Amino acid sequence: MLRTGLTLFVVLAACGVSALAQEPSANEAQQVQANMNQLMRGVLYPAANVVFFAQADDPGTVKPIPGNDPAMATDPLTSTYGGWQAIENAAMALAESANLLLIPGRACSNGVPAPMKDPDWSKFVREVRSAGMNAYKAAQTRNQDKMIEISEELSTACAGCHLKWRNRRTPADRCK
Ligand code: HEC
Repeated sequence: MLRTGLTLFVVLAACGVSALAQEPSANEAQQVQANMNQLMRGVLYPAANVVFFAQADDPGTVKPIPGNDPAMATDPLTSTYGGWQAIENAAMALAESANLLLIPGRACSNGVPAPMKDPDWSKFVREVRSAGMNAYKAAQTRNQDKMIEISEELSTACAGCHLKWRNRRTPADRCK
């Protein structure tokens, strides 16, 4: 384990040096790797669940799992950056995910290009960004009542887009 960590460090340090030598070109700055489903499952869904946690449970009472190293936690709430800080971080991840929903070239899992030019797409993306920032501010106040309001706002943003482009009888019809 220790040896892997050291190797990683050396590799990262080497990357740092070459990054200094050459600024990324405009083309390298934005790249699409995931389809829309993968982006949702990998980024938006886990972050939203962390934000939603604060509706029913007080993040301030979450403790690291006994016997588990918080630095290796798979649940942000029990990690080194746990408790309310995990809610803040997940809220920021959601706000930033709005940018990922607008990078040109992303397709849905059925190969249909994501309808990013549709004004409703931009509207739902703006709603995710603003709900994310509102969740961040609410988490900073450590106020669960505010988190309940914000969670409503967030799930409305998710649901609006899903109603329009995801919830079809067959996956082949998504995003059309
Ligand atoms: C701008 C539109 C849009 C917004 C906003 C959006 N989604 Fe999605 N979501 C989609 C589309 C379109 C799909 C289907 C993508 C595909 O099939 O590739 C999807 C798929 C998903 C999936 C995967 C479903 C499956 O079949 O496995 C999850 C999970 C998900 N979204 C969660 C969320 C959450 C949570 C939010 C809010 C924080 C959210 N989404 C906001 C458009 C959106």
